[in-house]
Amino acid sequence: MGTNNQDYKGQIAMIRSYIRGTGSYLPPGVVSNEDLARRMPTTDEWIRARTGIEERRFAEEGVSCSDLAYEASRAALSDSGIESSEIDLIIFATLSPDHHFPGTGCYLQAKLSHLGVRTIGCLDVRNQCTGFLYSLSIADAYIRAGIYSNILIVGSEVHSSALDFSEQGRDVAVLFGDGAGAVILSRYEGDRRGIISTELHADGHYAKALCLDLWDISRKPYISGESLTNGDMWPRMDGRSVFRHAVTGLTGLCQTTLSRAKYEIGDLKYVIPHQANLRINQAVAERLGIPDNKVLNNIQKYANTTSASIPILLDEAHKSGMLDEGDLLLLLAFGSGFTWASALLRW
Ligand code: ACO
Repeated sequence: MGTNNQDYKGQIAMIRSYIRGTGSYLPPGVVSNEDLARRMPTTDEWIRARTGIEERRFAEEGVSCSDLAYEASRAALSDSGIESSEIDLIIFATLSPDHHFPGTGCYLQAKLSHLGVRTIGCLDVRNQCTGFLYSLSIADAYIRAGIYSNILIVGSEVHSSALDFSEQGRDVAVLFGDGAGAVILSRYEGDRRGIISTELHADGHYAKALCLDLWDISRKPYISGESLTNGDMWPRMDGRSVFRHAVTGLTGLCQTTLSRAKYEIGDLKYVIPHQANLRINQAVAERLGIPDNKVLNNIQKYANTTSASIPILLDEAHKSGMLDEGDLLLLLAFGSGFTWASALLRW
């Protein structure tokens, strides 16, 4: 059993950051597995059996990543009860930015300025499936250091424009959906609530196991006619390698995160994992002996929304009344890079 007034280095943590509000937005267009089977050679049975996914949402033409983020941010602001003008920083996690540059956080800031958000700093984080937890870690450090008091963190994705709906791309295309989730992370004095620890990892030796080669700045020019016809414009994935490393990485990370903070699995109210594949989350839970009802999943409805999956899941749990103040939660993610990350917090 851990002591909840100590962080993982054993220091007294007087100032913490805590999640003060959550929000999410899913575009209305529901796309079932059967709908995909009408566009390419796949089946509902194949997708459900290997991933647990039943349907996902696709944004309409003309809707951007920052548009989804705007809706999720508005909901998080309203839930937090703070004024838009009190936000000190925007951290925007995405793998599907509105454009290559400038950062999508800047587009979001402009949209939110109508609600009173000031000309504050906007930081884009490009850590794909772990982007939200990397962002949470950065925001937590800013708040603990006393630099900022309220930070808007958004994960948002429009995957549906960048998937290869052909036989060649079907292994990846069936996995992803569009959506956005946001939290307001705020300063908390005391130790009853807030982030206890975050842990970040990466191993770039596996960069090519899950990547998009379109933007290759070593080529002159970096995009050519060939890039558009040889498959470089579509994401590539070694699914088995991702699956294997995700299960091993997340199992180890769960153990180290808990043991460094002197907690045990039995202390957790919920594990809130990234939604890459239901089978990955089930395999991790089985290895660690975590009961199914302690691991939250919603991939069945939304597929993999990458940086948005954890804040969407958190928002659903919060808004449906599943979380009580002080509950111990473990957030876990694994993704492209490879990167993997955790956050242990008291709600
Ligand atoms: N529909 C029907 N058949 C398909 C599809 C599809 N969508 N995709 C691939 N197949 C076929 C293959 O062509 C292959 O056919 P063959 O046997 O005739 O050659 C067969 O199904 C098996 O293919 P595998 O790739 O070996 O299938 P596998 O059992 O490994 O499952 C999957 C593939 C689901 C992608 C699995 O590897 C996986 O879940 N990996 C984890 C990847 C993941 O979760 N990525 C999420 C993004 S990353 C992240 O967020 C962490």
